Amino acid sequence: MDFKRITTDKETKARAGTITTDHGTIETPIFMPVGTVGSVKGVHQRELKNDINPDIILGNTYHLYLRPQTPILEQAGGLHKFMNWDRNILTDSGGYQVYSLSANRKIKEEGVKFRSHIDGSYHVFTPENVMEVQRTIGADIIMAFDECTPYPCDYNYAKRSMHMTHRWLDRCINHLEKVPYKYNYSQTFFPIVQGSTYKDLRQQSAEYIANAGAEGNAIGGLSVGEPAEEMYAMTEVVCDILPEEKPRYLMGVGTPINILENIALGVDMFDCVMPTRNARNGMLFTAHGTINIKNLKWADDFSPIDEMGITFVDKEYTKAYLRHLFTVNELLGKQIATIHNLGFYLWLVREARKHIIEGDFRKWKEKMVKQMDNRL
Ligand code: GUN
Repeated sequence: MDFKRITTDKETKARAGTITTDHGTIETPIFMPVGTVGSVKGVHQRELKNDINPDIILGNTYHLYLRPQTPILEQAGGLHKFMNWDRNILTDSGGYQVYSLSANRKIKEEGVKFRSHIDGSYHVFTPENVMEVQRTIGADIIMAFDECTPYPCDYNYAKRSMHMTHRWLDRCINHLEKVPYKYNYSQTFFPIVQGSTYKDLRQQSAEYIANAGAEGNAIGGLSVGEPAEEMYAMTEVVCDILPEEKPRYLMGVGTPINILENIALGVDMFDCVMPTRNARNGMLFTAHGTINIKNLKWADDFSPIDEMGITFVDKEYTKAYLRHLFTVNELLGKQIATIHNLGFYLWLVREARKHIIEGDFRKWKEKMVKQMDNRL
């Protein structure tokens, strides 16, 4: 993997760059649509590529391990072939889903024993087997196995957990050296900073992660219920320590405003279920604020979904029609809203990149943050 910084903003710490892997070039800052089980829910790969056009999407080790399971992915020749997606994929390690989804999990030094949220069956994730599963899934960027602590989190628990995440990181790295790539392209490994909302722990963790010398680094354990200001404070501390010449990925973040604020602090990569999940509940993100399309006020609004939107749905359908689809619970409503929201998120990060390069990012960001805070 190769990361090039094209511009670093003079007024903020925002960067514009490119990441190049064997599956192509990713322009950063980037938002990665979430395709948990090998599908960005409700969106054809063709629409994803042609209309939303992200350079990279995300898959989840936890979900793919449970279904369709790794032998099927291996027979398919990896997730790219299985889902017919020839651009980049990043897989999360399960370090978050195992805590947020599974039942009766027991966390030990060796790993995590958990019960599947689907059928209650028992499984064990260790740093070693999670690396093997990610080799088989075959994403371009694969993540360390970590523990994502909840919020709020007791200091002593956060500290113990952080140290365990660091020991797990060493085990991930050792094991990856023994397991070769499965397919005819390479994979890049990102470790994850933890440390809850404690500055000193975040500093320690960022130093440990920076020392691992990986090609890119991630920040985890945020956007778990803490106030936005606390999240930004942690990102700032961590970005000051993580090496400048490597991409920084803030996991599971966030709202359009969170994304712009974290770009300003030096983050290059984001993922979040918000644009897709909220779309399915009728919430639309726009440059002028959020819309709850189920509200009665849209019933006779025959204006396009989003005059400024980049995807075909924005101009081809009206707000009144989309509201109707939600009212009658038509699948198409969820699909239209998902395409709109992902188109908006990708537009937002592309605009951010453009303004970083043009040198007026800070001013543009401040205007956008104000505008996007509205409820329409
Ligand atoms: N997704 C959001 N937060 C996290 C985290 O802390 N760890 C992992 N592995 N994935 C995440």
